[in-house]
Amino acid sequence: ASMWPGIVQAYPDRIAVPPGARIVTLGEGGTPLLESPYLSELTGSRVLLKVEGVNPTGSFKDRGMTVAMTYALAAGSKAVICASTGNTSASAAAYAARAGLTCAVLVPQGKIALGKLAQAVMHGARILQVDGNFDDCLELARKTAADHPVALVNSVNRVRLEGQKSAAFEVCDALGRAPDVHCLPVGNAGNITAYWLGYTEYARDAVVPATPRMFGFQAAGAAPLVSGEPVAHPETVATAIRIGSPASWAAAIAARDESGGLIDAVTDEQILAAYRLLAAREGIFVEPASAASVAGLLVAAEDGRLPRGCTVVCTVTGHGLKDPDTALLEMHEVEPIPVDAGAVASALELR
Ligand code: F0G
Repeated sequence: ASMWPGIVQAYPDRIAVPPGARIVTLGEGGTPLLESPYLSELTGSRVLLKVEGVNPTGSFKDRGMTVAMTYALAAGSKAVICASTGNTSASAAAYAARAGLTCAVLVPQGKIALGKLAQAVMHGARILQVDGNFDDCLELARKTAADHPVALVNSVNRVRLEGQKSAAFEVCDALGRAPDVHCLPVGNAGNITAYWLGYTEYARDAVVPATPRMFGFQAAGAAPLVSGEPVAHPETVATAIRIGSPASWAAAIAARDESGGLIDAVTDEQILAAYRLLAAREGIFVEPASAASVAGLLVAAEDGRLPRGCTVVCTVTGHGLKDPDTALLEMHEVEPIPVDAGAVASALELR
């Protein structure tokens, strides 16, 4: 058995990097495609989860960051910058540390989950908390990169999407074909664009016979792709996808239309219900934004837009430990018990 080399070296003919470049990798990708018995039972379809929380920094962002950081290093950049709702900043900070580059991150103040902030701190990023939302941060990052010698590593940088398409390859490689439907949470819309790139590339090269229908789900309070216009003040418990003006807007709509798919909204209540269900019934702890794919799947199954008997993959994009605050809202405070086995038994109502 050989070690998983990271996505660039796992797909050397499909993910281009500059010739002779030192590949900046933390061994990202190669994530589990896990059967989901409970969701399969609920929907009448075969449901599998692409568990992206097991990536090195706990989200799918690492797939794009290995490529973006490899390019930045090869180009002689000394510093990188990104805007982020949290996961991109955690990933950029880690890969920059690995590459020996300075990393600056622009995040919406007070609106990024605790674990993500902790990661950026520990990896030594210059963290700028902006008194604005993600869309403001992205505009600032773009301007800064245009006017100063720092490389932008947001997904507006195309090479990020080249890396992220590897997840579609892995799904096909594991199934021996593409699924019928692929469900994703959608924020800045880079990931749905990247999956569609990957699926269409494999179909073009006849690695698989067909592409899946792409089902994207936004949070109801941050659903510009559903309403058709930017949202000035996006709000959702799923802070990772609290985005009002997605950078990959047109490409996401194209992925929806070319695949015969849909992009719809799910409420925070539906997101949180799926968040609890994944943890309590399947043993998979994801962050709230990740549960949007599963929330959307359940709605689509209920209202008949998901045909029964198909094979569905839901990407769960980030690890639950990213956002301990939201998880702990579920905890009920109880009095401590004395060091006494009888107290344990009675607290647990054992007899
Ligand atoms: N899920 C998680 C956990 C995310 O962090 C993101 C995006 C998405 C889904 C949506 O993916 O933007 O490609 O449509 N997070 C970005 C960030 C915006 O800054 O970490 P998308």
